[in-house]
Amino acid sequence: MSESGNVYQADEITDDDVTRFTDDAGNTVEYVEYDGLHQPLYELKLGAVPDFRSNIKRIQGMACRESDVFICAYPKSGTHWVWEITRMLVKGTTEYEKESKETVTNEFHLPKEFDTIPSPRVFNTHLPFRHLPKDIARRKCKMIFIQRNPKDVAVSFFNHTKNFDYLFYNGDWEHYLKLFLSETIFYQGWFQYTKEWEAVIADNPPIDFLTLYYEDLTKDPLAEIAKIGTFLGVPFDNTFVAAIAEKCSFKNLKTANVSKEYSFSSNQQIDVGLMFRKGKVGDWKNWFTVSQSEEFDNVYRNKMKDSNFQYTFSLV
Ligand code: A3P
Repeated sequence: MSESGNVYQADEITDDDVTRFTDDAGNTVEYVEYDGLHQPLYELKLGAVPDFRSNIKRIQGMACRESDVFICAYPKSGTHWVWEITRMLVKGTTEYEKESKETVTNEFHLPKEFDTIPSPRVFNTHLPFRHLPKDIARRKCKMIFIQRNPKDVAVSFFNHTKNFDYLFYNGDWEHYLKLFLSETIFYQGWFQYTKEWEAVIADNPPIDFLTLYYEDLTKDPLAEIAKIGTFLGVPFDNTFVAAIAEKCSFKNLKTANVSKEYSFSSNQQIDVGLMFRKGKVGDWKNWFTVSQSEEFDNVYRNKMKDSNFQYTFSLV
C-alpha cells in the first residue's frame, strides 16, 4: 500500500497475464486471471484494490477471531443488505454503520488492515470458499451464504457494470448476457461459484453455515432476520427484529447509503447508493426477451443439473 493509504501496488503485469474476452458486438473486457478469478485490468493498474495474484494467498493465511462473521455471496445477491442486518444484530443496534461495507470486503484490502477493527468483525466477500482464510475452520467462524435467482443477478450485475466504469464494458444487455452465460465476467461465473459453494457445504466442513435466499428475505424479512439472529446466537426480540427490518428496508437502506462514498483509490470514488438500484424479485422479466430467457434456461438446466439448490424467479 502506498503512503496515501488507499492505493495498492499491482504485481508485474505482462501482456501474457491479460485475458481478453470480446462479445459479439466487439466490446472487449480485459482481466488478469488468478486461479479462476477475473480481476479487471484497469482496477489493477489504478491500484484500486490489491492484486488478487498475491493478495489471495495473504487472505488464505489471515488470522481469524472466533467472533468473526463472513457474509459470502456472488456479487449482486444482496450482500449490502445482509451485511447491514448482520452488523446490527451482532452489535445490538439499529444505527447504520458509518463506513461502507466495502471497507470490510476481504479482497479489497490487505488482511493486516483489519487488525485494528474491534470484535466482532463482520466481513463480506465474493471470493470462492477455497480463497478464504484457512483459519475460518479452526476458529469456527460463522459464515452466511446468500443466494439469489441468477436471472435477477445477471440484470443487477449488468447495471452494476454500467454504473461503475472501472469495469470498462461498453456492451448492451444482449451482449452482456452472453458473457454472463459463458462465465467470462468480473470475478467468476455464477454457475461455477454456486456449484463450488454447494460442494463445500455438502462436504460438511467443521464450519457453521447459514444459507439465505434474497427472495425469502424480501418475502418475510422478520422471519429471515430472526433466523440470522438465531444462527449468530445473539440476543434479540420481536421489537428489535422489526426495527432492523424497517431500517434495512430497500428505501431506508438506500437513503442511508446515498451519503456514503467509498474511496477505491485516490483517483476513484464510488457512490455506494448506486448499489441500491431497484431491489425487486423478478425484475429480470423487464430485461429478458422470451428467447433470451429460453437460452438462459437451457444453460441453467445443463450447468445446474446436479444441483439441489432451488431458486424463486418470481413472487407473483
Ligand atoms: P438490484 O440491482 O436488482 O436492485 P449486492 O449488495 O450484493 O451488490 O446486491 C445488490 C442488489 O441487492 C441490488 O439489486 C440492490 O438493489 C439489492 N438490495 C440492496 N438492499 C436491498 C434491500 N434492502 N431490499 C431489497 N433489495 C436490496
